[in-house]
Amino acid sequence: MRDDKDTKNSGDKLSRLVFDRRRFLGSGLLGGLAALAGGRRAEADGLSTSQLVVPPWSHRPGPGVATRAYGQPSPYEKSVIRRFLPWIRPTREASVSFTPLQDLHGIITPNGLFFERHHAGTPEIDPQQHRLVIHGMVEQPLVFRVDELMRFPSVSRIHFIECAGNGAMEQHGAMHNALQFTHGMLSCAEWTGVPLRYLLREAGIRKGARWLLAEGADAAGLARSFPIEKAMDDALIVYAQNGEPLRPEQGYPLRLLLPGWEGVANVKWLRRLEVGDRPWETREETATYTDLLPSGKARQFTFVQEAKSVITSPCPERPMPGRGRFMVEGLAWSGAGRIKAVDVSFDGGRNWRSARLKGLVLDKALTRFEIEWNWQGGQALLQSRAIDETGYVQPTLGQLRAVRGMNSMYHNNAIQTWLIHPSGEVENVQLDV
Ligand code: CO
Repeated sequence: MRDDKDTKNSGDKLSRLVFDRRRFLGSGLLGGLAALAGGRRAEADGLSTSQLVVPPWSHRPGPGVATRAYGQPSPYEKSVIRRFLPWIRPTREASVSFTPLQDLHGIITPNGLFFERHHAGTPEIDPQQHRLVIHGMVEQPLVFRVDELMRFPSVSRIHFIECAGNGAMEQHGAMHNALQFTHGMLSCAEWTGVPLRYLLREAGIRKGARWLLAEGADAAGLARSFPIEKAMDDALIVYAQNGEPLRPEQGYPLRLLLPGWEGVANVKWLRRLEVGDRPWETREETATYTDLLPSGKARQFTFVQEAKSVITSPCPERPMPGRGRFMVEGLAWSGAGRIKAVDVSFDGGRNWRSARLKGLVLDKALTRFEIEWNWQGGQALLQSRAIDETGYVQPTLGQLRAVRGMNSMYHNNAIQTWLIHPSGEVENVQLDV
């Protein structure tokens, strides 16, 4: 229990803190940072330098470890959750949830906030009974238990997964005034598993083999064909995500990871890999996940999620906090490799400035960027534009529509525009350029 003496000691500590802070505020750099963050002097918050109220939670010990065998976020963060749109699919089993990109920091998506896409809900799989079969054009068909796969040399890599349909609802105009719904079918994790090429070498690929089929153990039996070059390059058979076993909704106990490729090809609950000489033309590569062009022809097997970026602060859910200096932040990613640069415009794309890439810049991973902005309360049109290591530049919506027309719903990687109102509110708008 604390007594008056402790309170006084706390007050002493505070006065030292305030004193030190004032010295810092006198220097140019930190003075600037305080203004940027909207920091206030202690007096402005009703604090005298000789006393600090001891809050209720400092009066007695809190609950112990026995109440939390698996940790949960603070109850004050209960709005940091996945969200879904009830009307988007005919049933809740076949549905999608969106990651709250507006609430996240760094590049890793916590497992409980990783977006979901199910075609038949989440199966409850007993890992002891689950098997992965490799067969088809191989010398020796193989069957693996999960614990057998864990005996292979493993790798851990950070990669994003984005649904090919991320942004699809924005194709015909600005629809959702929320970053979570315009871009939230996007997440990034550290994945641990076995390179698929190790397993294929065990099986021995027969001459003439060109494609693989990956099939899930969900009730949809979701299946996708993919070329053998990807299997031999960076494809992984994954059993862990951000240090713990895969979550059921992410494919527990095994999923395929095809880094940088459209989400649906990263087959979850993986149970079968068949090697063949041509694609299988499954439902999810013919009836859906194709891109209808103005000519009436549809592009098929468009796997790569091309370079894209979005400003995550400010955004509709994160309005401007007031005038003055502000760090504009966002995320950029490319299924073709590393992000090389991100440009930010404050006037709808007429002028561009280079943003700073923050932290890790990894192959086919989310990359965070930031740029300082001194907002004086005027209307502004904020945009970001990603450039990846291949030199590919994220297109405008006009450029995308010139090639794809209006009927192509997947692979919308257009530049996003946020309209900043003088009130600080942020609105999702589209510029027809
Ligand atoms: Co595609």
